[in-house]
Amino acid sequence: MKVFITRPIPEVGIQVLESALGAANIVIAPQDGPLERRILLDNIRGVSGIMSMLSDRMDAEVMDVAGPQLKVIANFAVGYDNIDIAVAKERHVHATNTPGVLTEATADLAWTLIMCAARRAGEGERFLRNRLWQGWGPQQLLGVEIHGQTLGIFGMGRIGQAVARRARGFDMKVIYHDAQPLDREKEASLNANLVTKEELLHNADVLSIHCPLTPETRHAFTLNEFRAMKPTAIVVNTARGPVIKEDDLCIALQQKIIFAAGLDVYEHEPKVDEALLNEERVVLLPHLGSATIETRNAMARTAAENIIAALTEHHPPNCLSCCQ
Ligand code: DGY
Repeated sequence: MKVFITRPIPEVGIQVLESALGAANIVIAPQDGPLERRILLDNIRGVSGIMSMLSDRMDAEVMDVAGPQLKVIANFAVGYDNIDIAVAKERHVHATNTPGVLTEATADLAWTLIMCAARRAGEGERFLRNRLWQGWGPQQLLGVEIHGQTLGIFGMGRIGQAVARRARGFDMKVIYHDAQPLDREKEASLNANLVTKEELLHNADVLSIHCPLTPETRHAFTLNEFRAMKPTAIVVNTARGPVIKEDDLCIALQQKIIFAAGLDVYEHEPKVDEALLNEERVVLLPHLGSATIETRNAMARTAAENIIAALTEHHPPNCLSCCQ
């Protein structure tokens, strides 16, 4: 049973796979970089499992080329918009993800962006590194306060809730919008109130996006949404880029419709819009949400265990395409 891994991953994941399936059966993409489609297709003929990255499109062609013995596509990510789940279901391929293990790291990164955007940390650092700073100034690089403000969360899954928990330390009011409301007990423990999308836009001082990318959430934030927000508002996205219409965000920042933004994900990743790169009031990170040593080790282990479970069990954990 051969497994192809589309990019080098932390050693712990390789060890799990090698000890269960034998080192000779584990093939890892030779180079660390996004895998070219042609190389992906050349390497998956006859494999039983693929460990994919969020940048690898796992569609009908991949499943056809791999062949009927393909049993599992294990995404090294919690998000799985790169996998055609309907086709996987049709072909009885287990598609899995890595939920839970990256919740806290991603919530920490959302807060990194919130604080940096609010306090203009990126601008400040550029100012200093460009040797423009001539000393403290009473009106220099003034940001907005976070303490005591209202945090709005769009998508209150595991990561949204972890972001909300951290807001307690800043005495923030928490409001959220999600098609699946939390139960009363959870809401009470997070001190969070369910609101409509309109109320969220209208009242949030900080809006943090944590929904999956689906046809319903694609372009959930356009100029209309930014216009409905406070001019002092901050928008942060650590979910998936296409949830925001990036051109519209650029306009909202250029025209000071909102105060600032923080992005870890992009509409056409890894391409970042020139207008965004030239905009001072946006903090830009290269998709680092889960990028801690501990979390990436945990993701590697979970993805590897998902593969082994899918090759040996009828109902493997973390399966997105299984009918339980
Ligand atoms: C995920 O797992 O979906 C994250 O975006 C990876 O950082």
